[in-house]
Amino acid sequence: MYLLIPAAGSGRRMGSSRNKLLLPLLDKPLLAWTLAAVKASRSVRWVGIIGQPDDFPDFKEIVISLGMTKCVHFIPGGATRQESVYKGLQALPAVAARVLIHDGARCLITPALIDRCAAEILRCPGLIAAIPVKDTIKVVEPTTQLITSTPDRRQLWAAQTPQGFAVEQLTHCHNEGVRQGWEVTDDAALLEQCGLPVKIVAGEESNLKVTTPMDLAIAEFILRQRDL
Ligand code: C5P
Repeated sequence: MYLLIPAAGSGRRMGSSRNKLLLPLLDKPLLAWTLAAVKASRSVRWVGIIGQPDDFPDFKEIVISLGMTKCVHFIPGGATRQESVYKGLQALPAVAARVLIHDGARCLITPALIDRCAAEILRCPGLIAAIPVKDTIKVVEPTTQLITSTPDRRQLWAAQTPQGFAVEQLTHCHNEGVRQGWEVTDDAALLEQCGLPVKIVAGEESNLKVTTPMDLAIAEFILRQRDL
């Protein structure tokens, strides 16, 4: 299976001047945890790490320190996640029929979830890992700050990664996104905009995306529990 890892973001919401994926989490950089799970995955053979070129020396050091034996490529990213994934798609070998995309920032991913998504994507052209939301979600009008509606919680799922796609279909949807000026925060949204089906695979509650210092503290707590 081919796997792209968007890792070209910044540390803005983390309050950090550098890429949050290079911040320490216990004894190694955050991205090293993500890559350790990828290394342990039985299905992934080809890994494309999408990053800002200035970070490549650090990324390479992490890959070497983990002793990754899989085929690893470093792909220059873009100004948004959407652009970064687009560049990653263009760097895939021509023979790649299916691809998994997993955010570098979801460093608590388990090899089991990666392998489940890899198995499932062979049976359908679009999927995402997701979990039911726990909170009641409100839709709010941004200028007045007034609530406009409360969607039925039973229909709401929190999107995670991995997300898996047929390469040809996802490339078509990204091209369409560029043409139409769509701005999305995950790849499934591009398929939805194109009217194409995307299936849910049961995600994991611990598979959180590290965005803020609080997330980093929670990630540290979870990793310590796993170590026990
Ligand atoms: O910022 P956020 O955590 O939502 O980004 C999700 C993932 O997308 C992260 O792993 C981040 O490194 C990546 N990203 C990217 N290129 C960007 C912005 C974010 O690859 N320009």
